[in-house]
Amino acid sequence: MASSNIALAERFTDGCYDQGLSEVLRGLLYIPRQLSHVWLYDERGCRLFEKICQLPEYYLTRTETGIMTRDASAMAALLGAQLAVIELGSGDGTKTRLLLDALVHPRSYVPVDIAASSLARTARAMQRDYPQLQVLPLCADFTRPLQLPPLGSARRLLYFPGSTLGNYAPEDAVRLLRSMREVAGPEGAALIGFDLIKERSLLERAYDDADGVTAEFNLNSLRHVNRRLGIGLDVSHFRHRAVWVAAEQRIEMHLVSTADQTARVGAAVIRLQRGDFIRTEYAYKYTLEGFARLAQQAGWSLSQGWSDAQRWFRVQLLAAN
Ligand code: TRP
Repeated sequence: MASSNIALAERFTDGCYDQGLSEVLRGLLYIPRQLSHVWLYDERGCRLFEKICQLPEYYLTRTETGIMTRDASAMAALLGAQLAVIELGSGDGTKTRLLLDALVHPRSYVPVDIAASSLARTARAMQRDYPQLQVLPLCADFTRPLQLPPLGSARRLLYFPGSTLGNYAPEDAVRLLRSMREVAGPEGAALIGFDLIKERSLLERAYDDADGVTAEFNLNSLRHVNRRLGIGLDVSHFRHRAVWVAAEQRIEMHLVSTADQTARVGAAVIRLQRGDFIRTEYAYKYTLEGFARLAQQAGWSLSQGWSDAQRWFRVQLLAAN
């Protein structure tokens, strides 16, 4: 069962980007111009993101991994045995391993990701290293209703690390948390990693590193959408920008046009003047109170949480009841 599912995920070699041309065009034609962050994650984008996670400036992964290393056993003690772990945006599974190693007899692991080849890679490696675990990868955009595999009566844990929740505007974050609660069921739980508000320079550097890996990651989304949908925007006429917008408590990633340029797509003409920009990503940062408000609006109650000594990041357990 598990291995045939992995084979199934491998068939979606291109990933599951179900945004069509009209949706993308609508984003590019009207101000504020925007391009969905799903386009960041093609095969090259996933590799670049794994590289970002190891950069000195990108403190998030290091800090969250530190929390998991120190506190996963305390999390496991609260969570109990025989869980079905459903991970949204599974990446390479480094933090998941720390969780699985601490959990008592976890039953199944459902990694959900939009990037098919990276999903299949993670699923295969997990199945190899955790032969007792039922690994059931699901290639999907987790903001749309999930078609979960049968998980029997196992208690469900929704694992959502990496401050990925912060990539959604508050109303979308609440919607996502609500659908997670539905998936978890009345006995379920969620474990969510989120980034805390801190000094501007630390935040901006995390999203604009000295080696330009993040810049390349951002520009790559334009290459991806160009290739997929035949949009002829010239990537060499854009530059990466990351700004902390304090009033909104978020980092915004932009692609700034460095020239006056036009691209034709069928009957549509995308016109950008020098300095115009396309917004590609939000990364919201929270106070504990702000996060609690979102979770409670979505019907979750706050259980225990864990932070690093500098209070840069938090991993929070939520209970459905
Ligand atoms: N969830 C991560 C974050 O917000 C992922 C991410 C999205 C990211 N865009 C990024 C990381 C750009 C670095 C740079 O931090």
